[in-house]
Amino acid sequence: MKNIKNQENLTQKRILLRLDLNVPLKNGIITDETRIDKILPIIQFLLKKKSKIIVISHIGRPKGKVNKELSLKPVCENLEKKINKKIKLINSNIFELKKKDLFKNPEDQIIFLENIRFYNEEEKNDLNFSKHLANLADLFVNDAFSCSHRAHASISRITEFLPSFAGLQLETEISALKKVTTEIKKPITCIIGGSKISTKIGIIKNLIPKFDNIIIVGGMANNILNYKGNAIGKSIKEDNCEMIIDDIFKTSKKHSCSIIYPEDVMTGKTMKDKSHTKELNEIANDDLILDIGPKTIKKISDIIKASKTVLWNGPAGYFENPNFAIGSHEIAKKIIKKNKNNLIYSVAGGGDTITFLNQINALNDFNFVSTAGGAFLEYLEGKELPGIKALN
Ligand code: 3PG
Repeated sequence: MKNIKNQENLTQKRILLRLDLNVPLKNGIITDETRIDKILPIIQFLLKKKSKIIVISHIGRPKGKVNKELSLKPVCENLEKKINKKIKLINSNIFELKKKDLFKNPEDQIIFLENIRFYNEEEKNDLNFSKHLANLADLFVNDAFSCSHRAHASISRITEFLPSFAGLQLETEISALKKVTTEIKKPITCIIGGSKISTKIGIIKNLIPKFDNIIIVGGMANNILNYKGNAIGKSIKEDNCEMIIDDIFKTSKKHSCSIIYPEDVMTGKTMKDKSHTKELNEIANDDLILDIGPKTIKKISDIIKASKTVLWNGPAGYFENPNFAIGSHEIAKKIIKKNKNNLIYSVAGGGDTITFLNQINALNDFNFVSTAGGAFLEYLEGKELPGIKALN
């Protein structure tokens, strides 16, 4: 994999730069800027080289349709302030864009294309779309490790049409995860939570042989609870996961890996509600499971206490409402305490996990924090990620 930092003569070269600026937004306001801060080094590097930067990113999952709420405008404005440079956001149809239309003003050094997932060709890894994007630039740089598990046009197919390079953050993330996987100390506990159930549930089975404990919390745990015959009310759940879960439990027996899931929960009637501690047999039809309960927290704390490595990907509850942030907070506190005494090696990953850790000012209390959620887990699985394969 070639890294852009070793490339000579980037002056005036047009760089198509794929970033992951998929930041959390509330009413158009960015609620966590970590992903923007992480890409400042590559922007500064290319600006210093006097390159012309065309940024591509996505926000959310607009499914091929223009959705104003998922515009990159707030990100552009935020980045403009951070780097003290004007950034042009191009909202016109990408298919109508021509190379000669960009950087007409010689002062312009950085432009953004609007959310690339407004085009369904992106997720289809479409050949013509990739070709068209490639025609706008001279080189391609992937500095979005956290998107590299997606075989999408601006991550994978694009590399067929431009000389392609890894970015600075991508290399940092891979080096750190390589170190984790080669120097890992047992017992190893992996905590998997969050709401992207479809992305993560299929990965668990392949992680089982590598870990001693897999703790399933957050939205994904609802599928397990339901599979075990518990009512989950109106809680989020993925359909047709029974076979996968069956396989997870069978495989875990074979490899002596403990699968831990909630023994009690915190519920609300709405996301804005106060929290109510409930036993699993007390969940009503109109309840939403939004956090783990005290018995579960105690169990997880004991497991962390006995672990030498902990990998945490995805919060334990709907932490955006402080009433449901207790599970994630207690997990973080336990890991941080052990980490301070050098008794555990800790890695956290994923957009929501980062947002949560930033919220409690704990980003620097882990050995490594990855911007990647799904990509982090797939890397641990031992899979070659499509975006990395393409660069190789
Ligand atoms: C992430 O937040 O993990 C990345 O931006 C990828 O997003 P996706 O799961 O919607 O592909």
